[in-house]
Amino acid sequence: MTLDGDLTDQNIASAESEDYALSGEAGGEEIVGSADPFFVSKKAAAVFKHKLLKTYFPKFAGKTASTEADRRLAYVDTHAGRGSYEDGTSGSPLLVAQDVAGMQQLRRIDCYFIEARKSNYDHLHQILENAMPEGAVWSARHGKASDYIEDAVSFAGDAPLFMFIDPYGLGPTFDEVAGVLNRPRRGYGSKTEVLLNFIAMAFGRAGAYIRSPAPTRQQVTTLGHLDEVLGGGWWREVYLSADSVAAAVKEIAEGYAERIRANTGCGWTLVPVKDRAHKQPVYWLLHFTRHQDGIWEIREAAAQAAAAWRVHCNPPPQSDDNDLFPQEDPFPAEEAARQAGWIDAIERNARDLLSSRGRISLPTDAEALFGPATFGQAWKKHLRGALARLHQEGILAPRPLSQGLEKYQGHLVQP
Ligand SMILES: C[S@@+](CC[C@H](N)C(=O)[O-])C[C@H]1O[C@@H](n2cnc3c(N)ncnc32)[C@H](O)[C@@H]1O
Repeated sequence: MTLDGDLTDQNIASAESEDYALSGEAGGEEIVGSADPFFVSKKAAAVFKHKLLKTYFPKFAGKTASTEADRRLAYVDTHAGRGSYEDGTSGSPLLVAQDVAGMQQLRRIDCYFIEARKSNYDHLHQILENAMPEGAVWSARHGKASDYIEDAVSFAGDAPLFMFIDPYGLGPTFDEVAGVLNRPRRGYGSKTEVLLNFIAMAFGRAGAYIRSPAPTRQQVTTLGHLDEVLGGGWWREVYLSADSVAAAVKEIAEGYAERIRANTGCGWTLVPVKDRAHKQPVYWLLHFTRHQDGIWEIREAAAQAAAAWRVHCNPPPQSDDNDLFPQEDPFPAEEAARQAGWIDAIERNARDLLSSRGRISLPTDAEALFGPATFGQAWKKHLRGALARLHQEGILAPRPLSQGLEKYQGHLVQP
């Protein structure tokens, strides 16, 4: 493969400088002195996306390839990064390489990675050489995502495809994302999913350029790019009429997701990711799937990721052995109270649904049962706990079991 000679670190850095300026923090990960500051240490926000990927992707691999004759599927990482962080923690490529190895007896996970920055690409390649098991099929490309997305889709062929799009800034165009989701595939079902990192600050700041009385040439270019990424200029009106930048970004993310749905028929789930320092999300993870199980599992994975994120943000207090009164860790009790509150909230929603409709049908009712307070926070365990209370009370039958809960059909039992 001939590499684009212009893709030196310096050139990429300058092409990206606008993205950096937009995202302020690269996807919620602080910029501090390093060749690529993103990879110095794993900040809370990255803990979230990696836990989500680590939880969800094996489910996708397990389910989608189970009915493929060759048990093959493809993973594509369009903005792969260095593979691992300087503090040794795994980036998305290394996490997936572990899945390739761990599932090798059951699934053939072929991988395709794209990384534009040469120094990151070199590191990535080395990491993959070491981490990929013998016999694994993988390819790493040095270049821009847009130049390789089509090739990545050909690489997947007719296999199920999961694409992770994780840029610093605005990312691929609307047509590119829709094109992936609409790829033709021989075989049963579409089996094509995209997980997209929608960087809040990048969209928030770029959007602010429309208010500028005399935008610079660079800003005009960025605005044009934003139109391409979002699939038209519709977002400008949304931005100008919103009460705050955060509200605008949320509405734009939802508008984008809806437009992709209209174009592809994919359902979507939007997961807000905050970090300690920000009250508003620093990025949104946006997942597209055509399968009901995908919607169920991504919510479960988001809840697991949120739990991992809380643990990361609440390390136990440091006390040394000579402390007369070691500090107690308040986190476990807080967490238990939080989770108990979720079960109460879901129980209220379930009670309302049961009395108004006379039945509960999962997964179509899952979103209503979780409600905005616990959606993406609580998981299956809490849902089952809440439904079990109604069953014990004698108003819901049959008994909800953990196994197959996503298919549960319950009805009101009249006293
Ligand atoms: C947020 S980091 C990726 C992190 C990685 N996915 C992970 O989870 O470990 C974004 C990466 O995209 C690279 N990049 C920036 N613009 C790109 C482009 N147009 N195409 C491909 N990669 C790009 C950057 O050099 C950086 O390594």
